[in-house]
Order: sequence, then C-alpha cells, then structure tokens
Amino acid sequence: MSAPKKLFIKTYGCQMNVYDSERMAEALGGQGYVETDQAAEADMILLNTCHIREKAAEKVYSELGRLKKLKVDKPDLKIGVAGCVAQAEGEEIMRRQPAVDLVVGPQSYHRLPAMEERLAQGQSALDTDFPEEDKFEQLKSRPKARRAPAAFLTVQEGCDKFCAFCVVPYTRGAEVSRPAEQVIREAQGLVERGVREVTLLGQNVNAYHGGMGLAALIRKLAKVDGLERIRYTTSHPNDMEDDLIAAHGDVPELMPYLHLPVQSGSDRILKRMNRKHTAESYLKLLERFRDARPDIVLSGDFIVGFPEETDADFEATMQLVEEVRYGYAYSFKYSARPGTPAAERATVDPEVADARLQRLQTLITRDQRAVQDAMVGREVSVLVERTGREAGQVVGKSDHLHSVHIENARARIGDIARVRIVASKSNSLAAVEV
Ligand code: SAH
Ligand code: SF4
Ligand code: F3S
Repeated sequence: MSAPKKLFIKTYGCQMNVYDSERMAEALGGQGYVETDQAAEADMILLNTCHIREKAAEKVYSELGRLKKLKVDKPDLKIGVAGCVAQAEGEEIMRRQPAVDLVVGPQSYHRLPAMEERLAQGQSALDTDFPEEDKFEQLKSRPKARRAPAAFLTVQEGCDKFCAFCVVPYTRGAEVSRPAEQVIREAQGLVERGVREVTLLGQNVNAYHGGMGLAALIRKLAKVDGLERIRYTTSHPNDMEDDLIAAHGDVPELMPYLHLPVQSGSDRILKRMNRKHTAESYLKLLERFRDARPDIVLSGDFIVGFPEETDADFEATMQLVEEVRYGYAYSFKYSARPGTPAAERATVDPEVADARLQRLQTLITRDQRAVQDAMVGREVSVLVERTGREAGQVVGKSDHLHSVHIENARARIGDIARVRIVASKSNSLAAVEV
C-alpha cells in the first residue's frame, strides 16, 4: 500500500472556518489524505480564508507567496484556497497567484473529493457555486476518532441582514438552517467520541429555524446524554426570541455567556450601518438576559471609524460600553470592503480612527479585567481541555468562558471540575478543586 498523502490546512477567520476546516479534512480523508501540522511535508496545502477586513484577505496572498516556493522541491504539491476569500475573489486568485491549483467556496467544499481527482490528473479546479444539495448531508460520515472535549457545530449559515460594512452575506450566501434532527444526530456522534461541550455556530445563529427555533433546539440538545454544556454564537439583536432568554434562566446546560455584537452606540451610525436596532433597544435586550441569568457574562463587537463617525458618535459608543461592562469585547477599525454599500462613502481620517480604537480598547480591557477579577473567591465549573505547563496543572474553560488553570489537579482532560477561583492573572484565572 502506498503511504498516505499529507494534508496541511491553515485556518483564518471565524469559528465557522475552524468547523469547515475539520469537514474539509474529513472529505479529503476519503481520498487517502491524513493531516499534518507541517506545511513542508504536505502533498496538499489548503488555506481556509477570511474576507472580513482587508488585512485578513491580504494575508492570504503573502502566505501564498511563501508557500509557492515549496513547489520548487515538490512540483506535485497542490495548493488550494478555500473559505471567504475564495468565494469573493474566485478565479482572480489564480490570476494573482498562478501557483494556486484549487479554489473552493464555503458552500461547495463537500465537492472537494471530485476536485481532488481533477488535480490528480494535472488540472486545476474552481468551485464557488451556491449549490442546491445539502453539503452537510453529503459529508455525513465523520471518522470515529476521539475528539477534544469541546467542539463546534454549525447549525445555521449565511446572512440576510446586509449590514452596510459586511461581506458575509456575499461570501456565505443566504441564511440556511440545518434540520434539527441532523444537528441532534451530529451532537450525539460527537458525544460518543468524548465531546462534552458544543458551541452552536451560525452567522446569525439565533435566526435558526430548522423546524424549530434556537431555544427549542437547545432544549432538545440539553437532553442528549453526556452533553453537559451548550453555547451558541453569533447572535443578532433583532432575532432574539423570548424563549432563548428564558432558556438562560432554566436550562442548566446553557452556559451563562452571550456574544451579542452591537457595532456602535450611536443611533445615527447604527442607521447608516443598516443595523435596524438602536442603542437603547440593545441595552434593554441585555437587561432581559441579566434578569434571566444575573451572572451572565456579556460580549460584543464594535467597529470604530465607520464612514461619517463623528467624535459625538464615538462618545456614544464609549458611553454604551461604560453602561454594559462587558466581560469580553472585540473592537475593529473599519475596513472598506469591495462590493459593500459603505465602501462608497467618505472615510474617517485613519489617525482619528486609530486614536478612537485605542481609547475603546483601553476601556474594554479595564472592564474585562474587572469582570475576571470579580470571579476570585467564587466556585465555578471548568471543562478540562488540556494539561498545563507546570506539573500537576490542567487548563480549561469556566462556565463564563474564562480560561482557568487548576493547580495540583485530580481532574483529567474531559472532566468537568468544580473549583474555587483563587487568583486572577493577566489572561486567566487560577483555581483549586473543591
Ligand atoms: N455574524 C456576526 C459576525 C460578523 S463578522 C455578526 O453579525 O455580528 C465579526 C465582526 O467583524 C463583526 O461583528 C464586526 O464587528 C466586524 N466587521 C465586520 N465587517 C467589518 C469591516 N468591514 N470592518 C471592520 N470590522 C468589520
Ligand atoms: Fe455581517 Fe451584519 Fe450579517 Fe453579521 S448581521 S454577518 S455583521 S451582515
Ligand atoms: Fe471571515 Fe468568512 Fe468568517 S469573512 S469572519 S471567515 S464568515
């Protein structure tokens, strides 16, 4: 038998790309590929790319420039570009970097086996369709190997919201939900392989409607034996159903954490962004989550320097952050993306935008720190994911998604340990078992 071919995948962007990379590895597993973490020894290299900001997309071309040199010693090496840059730029990628053999969009990667056969015959392959068939059904079979205790599970994909700055509706396509039975079956399969926590993924996960809403799906998943923890991301303020808020109060498996991007605290900018909600409606929504689950940790996303953002608009964002006191928040400088409505508008002076980003990030860091510090002395649960650097130490995530180091641990990988937090370090908490 010939030695297995080796596949190296580098993943950029969001959690859905992480999930997709796993599925692509499985699809190519059927073609005799095993994964390697060394690009230099690979027979095929796939970059699973992100188009959300200009920097993310440009990184791909510099990486391709480096990788093509590997072809000098290994002319049979195949290089592929998958993900959102593949979808957005298609053939253009092969024109800009002729070393690329394969371009595959996020909705057609179940066709990778057929594409790989074309490559094996010395042809190139391009597929950026939005096909009718269900890629998830086509990729049903997952290898039976044991898995890490926490896994991603895509339940919804695509976006119909068309925020004025965002490429996702174009790269991922229209909103599609997977049937609930299919999701539950996949979750059961994951549990059989050692998974105890799933994060349900969707670009608009709370718009899920696979025969039931997201809350009903979560209630069903909570009954899957052995599935101890459920998270979901990313939600949109306008799709929030009452039952999802209620579930945070009465489903113990649903973790006390909510990522709910708002982007700006200024209603004028929110309108220009086509967000279709106000700062006040967003704050009211968060209050309802806090009423249902008082210890919930809140998380958000922000864009600074959106076209026409004034000092007053930015101060409104700072004000909103002051009010919410996020446990986590992610802030980005606006990046004009080709094909989006906002790309046509006058931009904010980059130095002004940089200064705003700096101020916002300082405020966010202060709040993150305060929320983390407030955990000291509390008892929480930790899903152990790996061993730590020091002897006897294990590392995992708390219910609230804080990284926790347990010293002198009895708990092993995959265990859910009950611990008391004893100290707050720069990026993690220290704990002892109780
Ligand atoms: N579907 C999710 C996430 C979209 S991308 C949502 O609706 O929130 C993740 C984050 O990237 C966004 O929340 C936004 O804050 C940021 N982002 C998206 N487009 C951007 C752009 N053109 N420039 C800067 N940041 C952007
Ligand atoms: Fe992009 Fe807006 Fe859709 Fe989120 S809701 S993916 S930010 S268009
Ligand atoms: Fe990036 Fe596509 Fe995700 S643009 S953020 S990889 S949906």
